[in-house]
Amino acid sequence: MLRVNKVHKIQGRIRVPGDKSISHRAVMLSGISRGKGVIEGFLRGEDCYSTIACFRGLGIKIEDRGSQIIVHGKGLKGLQEAEDVLDAGNSGTTMRLISGILSGQEFLSVVTGDGSLRKRPMDRIAMPLRKMGAYIEGRDHGRLAPLVIRGGNLRSIDYTSPVSSAQVKSAVLLAGLYAEGQTVIREGVASRDHTERMLKALGGNITAENGKVIVGKSELHGTAIGVPGDISSAAFFMAAAAAIPGSRLIIEGGGLNPTRTGIIDVLREMGALIEIDNITESGGEEAGDIIIQGKKLKGINIRKEIIPRLIDEIPVIAVIAAVAEGRTTITGAEELKVKESNRITSMVTEMKKVGIKVRELSDGMEIEGENTIIGGTVESYGDHRIAMAMAVAGLFAKGSVKIKNSECIGVSFPDFEKKLKQVTLSK
Ligand code: S3P
Repeated sequence: MLRVNKVHKIQGRIRVPGDKSISHRAVMLSGISRGKGVIEGFLRGEDCYSTIACFRGLGIKIEDRGSQIIVHGKGLKGLQEAEDVLDAGNSGTTMRLISGILSGQEFLSVVTGDGSLRKRPMDRIAMPLRKMGAYIEGRDHGRLAPLVIRGGNLRSIDYTSPVSSAQVKSAVLLAGLYAEGQTVIREGVASRDHTERMLKALGGNITAENGKVIVGKSELHGTAIGVPGDISSAAFFMAAAAAIPGSRLIIEGGGLNPTRTGIIDVLREMGALIEIDNITESGGEEAGDIIIQGKKLKGINIRKEIIPRLIDEIPVIAVIAAVAEGRTTITGAEELKVKESNRITSMVTEMKKVGIKVRELSDGMEIEGENTIIGGTVESYGDHRIAMAMAVAGLFAKGSVKIKNSECIGVSFPDFEKKLKQVTLSK
């Protein structure tokens, strides 16, 4: 159980662990490339270890050399039928992206995950992959994992995704690498584009413009991949620092991919002072130092168009909205219901427990400003982002906030508690 108490301010400089989305893709895409992929800054969280385990199961040699992960890629057709079930653990990205790759393989695969993942919708990827010619079955009429996949002989499709989801887009793009012809995927609001950027960096035949991505048969070549710090992990610290007047925090080497920086836009709109410095680039992904100064924030309206650019940051935004001046409304965020937990219900329920006035909406929530957070014991629902968001609530609470089952934080941010201690001053 993690216990967090009120702090006076947040101060210092930290690095956050590697980007989760990019770490998964680095292992997967290196595995289907020819030659060696050398990954630096890889996220040592449970989700990304699930991806490594799956690719080892498919016959890819992956070495852990401390500061580097070395993937000995075997090319697009180099994977072998796994002897056993592939286990994606808690990771939606692992299951959905690997399903795209497995759709290109003639052999049989069975993919499962933990109790949370086995409840999450897989029809969103199974439907387009079936259209491409893959055989995919699962529980509940093919909607839920475990999934059984036999692929091969794929044909290209032109698919408009009903949801803005990088996992759906990526599954189709990865299958598209194996399909005859050009596969097109379109989405209303563009989701994160790490797959597109990395495919390009590895020599893939891919173009993207205005919410439309086109991929064709490709040959990929392994290379060095530097993984930037995860802005979704940084967000817990950025939000806390932004909302505590007198704070000054520097996040070093944070990812700045524009499809992920909605949190910076929202914090600025709430009144925070944020600057960016020391920008670098690796594998098509920008990173830089993010400098945050704390102020009294104000409530805002967060609408559908920005949601894909901050989908994982909404729990922590909800928490700091509770101490801002005025009401914050979040709408168009129904995708939160199918994350590791139903993040709308989880957050509303737990925020109420610590004394925050918040109302659940069908597609988001409405949070009153200037709450006195009293503290208390809360659930994590085994969801890492709920646990960390509620830990941030503790930084503003009169009494402590105690988070049950906080070990789930290890999915994306193993040393969260240590980093939090490092930058909090309690007067
Ligand atoms: C991810 C995409 C997002 C995000 C998840 C990681 C990815 O999910 O919430 O944490 O790596 O592609 P959706 O694609 O389902 O929106």
